[in-house]
Amino acid sequence: MRRSIIAANWKLNASRSMVDTFMPAVDAQASASGNTDIVICPPYPYLDLVGQKVQASNLHIGGQTMSLEKEGAFTGEVSADMLRDVGCRYVILGHSEQRRYHADSDISIGTKMVTALRAGLTPIVCIGESLQQRKEDKAESTIMRQLGALLALGRWVDLSDLVIAYEPIWAIGTGETASPEQAQAMHAYIRAELTKSRAQLADTVRVLYGGSVNPDNAAKLFAQTDIDGGLIGGASLQADSFNQIITAV
Ligand code: PGA
Repeated sequence: MRRSIIAANWKLNASRSMVDTFMPAVDAQASASGNTDIVICPPYPYLDLVGQKVQASNLHIGGQTMSLEKEGAFTGEVSADMLRDVGCRYVILGHSEQRRYHADSDISIGTKMVTALRAGLTPIVCIGESLQQRKEDKAESTIMRQLGALLALGRWVDLSDLVIAYEPIWAIGTGETASPEQAQAMHAYIRAELTKSRAQLADTVRVLYGGSVNPDNAAKLFAQTDIDGGLIGGASLQADSFNQIITAV
């Protein structure tokens, strides 16, 4: 049985006062939802503050991305070891916004995944097709390419801890969610691809759905066999809506 995960991707949104009101409410909900792992991924400057407010044993903090590098002259970068050092258990990798604005590629993301796993972080690796790719019937081939790079680069590493987030780009921040059937079909495809490569992964790897998840659509999405939880953007910024999503899983 795979444990479900609900992860909050705050993106470029946070303040001390937001953390002060958000965390006690979500910590209480996490305590009441012991079968689910809850992950909060704030912007770097708030990791420590968020971490200080964690009490529930199933509530964790994570980074939104990280560097390929370990240390040195890389202005603006943050390493896997630093994330661990400040208490992170997770890191989001390959989010479509990082792919788009920071030139993250299939290769760099796969390499970061290996670095993260070796540092003891659980990577939540985002994959997903654009609207154009879906229209051209290239959704599956896009996913196959993205997954293929991960599996190739992760060939010699234990990937049982890996978390995949299927995030169709056309559903991110648009209010347009994949239907539960569309999402389930792609999650089943992802699991089938994983099985082809390494049979045991298909049962252990958790596959999250992300893209305009909200309290109204969450339960139907999470009821699908191959959806193990969600990566939540906009609806993770308020404790109220985020807690409702936790309850839905
Ligand atoms: P959204 O973002 O929930 O605001 O669509 C999800 C994500 O980008 O991870």
